[in-house]
Order: sequence, then C-alpha cells, then structure tokens
Amino acid sequence: MNTEEQKKAAATAAVEWLDSRLHADTIVGVGTGSTADHFIDLLALHRARFAGAVSSSTRSAERLARHGIRVFDLNDVVELPMYVDGADEITAQLEMTKGGGGALTREKIVAAASRIFVCIADASKRVEKLGAFPLPVEVIPMARAQVVRALGTLGRERALGEDAMRASIRLRSAADGTPYITDNGNCIVDVSGWTIADPRAVEAGIGAIVGVVESGLFALRGADVLFLARPEGVESHHWSAT
Ligand code: 5RP
Repeated sequence: MNTEEQKKAAATAAVEWLDSRLHADTIVGVGTGSTADHFIDLLALHRARFAGAVSSSTRSAERLARHGIRVFDLNDVVELPMYVDGADEITAQLEMTKGGGGALTREKIVAAASRIFVCIADASKRVEKLGAFPLPVEVIPMARAQVVRALGTLGRERALGEDAMRASIRLRSAADGTPYITDNGNCIVDVSGWTIADPRAVEAGIGAIVGVVESGLFALRGADVLFLARPEGVESHHWSAT
C-alpha cells in the first residue's frame, strides 16, 4: 500500500472498530486532516445508524454536513464515547504531535470530551521520539513575539536542542505571506529542531506560557487505540498506562 492507501486502510479499521459501538444516540467525535477525511467518507456509509458528530474544525464540519451527517455543537453534548483523528507523529506510548492542519486546539478540546481516542495513521507517522515534525503552538496574535521568546527559554531549560530550534509564524502560503489564521482567530507558531524526550513535561511547560492557547503535543491525554497502517497491513495498538 502507498501512503494514501494506508490512510484509507487505517480509517477503514477505525470504522470496523466503531461498527458494534454505533447506536441510535451515538455522537462521534471527528478529527481533521486527510486521514480523517477518509474516515468521514467511510463513516457516512453508516449515517442512518448513529445520531451525528462533533467536529474538530470547520473543514471537517463541512465535509460531515455534505454527507448528511448532523453536526452537533460540543456545548450541547455531555460526553462523547469516542474521538477518531489522525496525527503528525505518534510514539509507542501513543503520545502524539498534531496540528499540521491547524486544528490542534479544537482537536484537543474534542479529545478531552471523549472517553476513547482512536488514532488513525499511516506508517510514516510512527516515531521513536517526537520532534522531527515541527510542533504547532496556537497563540493569541498580540503575544506571538513574546511566546516565541518564552519557547526559546523553555527549550534551553529543558535542553530540547536550542541550537537547532527555529520558531516560525505559519503563513497562509509562502506566496501570500500573511499569517495563517485558525478557526479560533489565532495564529500558529511552528517549532522545529526540538527532540522531545518527555512530551508530558514539555506539554505542561508550553501550556503555562501566557499567550499560548494550546500546543500540538497530545501526551497528557494521548491516544487509547492506534490503527497504524503499514505497506503490508493494519496493526492495532491499545495503550494502558498500568
Ligand atoms: C490536523 C491534524 C491532523 O490529524 C494531522 O495533521 C495529520 O494529518 P493527515 O491525516 O492529513 O496526515 O492534527 O490539525
């Protein structure tokens, strides 16, 4: 399987896993990205069997609605039984970097509201340590320069690789040159050059910086289940800290 086929295979495995868990009142948490797009398209084949979805982005909400799946506001839902989403990197402990698509804050909110986080990923996402993929940090626009300085201090204090660290404001496109704006009206700082040995501590450290909305580290609340598609087939991994 090539990468696109792996993404679809991981999404197929998640829908098969969901099959026995879908009931008339089930609301499914849905992530964002190209792997999540496959999941939405496959989930739509079962749309008559569940109540609807809570989406982690405008992009996914529009795709769900185009398929005729009802999109609920998270404020109208007490708890979600499951959340299905992709990742940019994932470790053996099912700690992740997310937010390549810019939806990290809403993804973290929907994940926090869900009992089970199901990650769907192609083989390129499986890493020994997080950090090769630039870490997205959603920032209140007026604080972006201050947050970049504070991230530099955090990197030095935690020896994350300060010599190699680069923090850049994400742009809409290189040609456009204007900052990318999230669904929440904020900007994103992408941090590259870090090797993140202790993702939980780094997630907590970034979260404590004033002006940061959320980071793309999903370690304090990682995935519970991973469907990892490799060229030869899909593996399932279940994480238990005990
Ligand atoms: C979006 C995300 C995505 O899950 C992540 O970027 C993976 O994307 P893709 O499935 O397209 O490889 O976190 O904010």
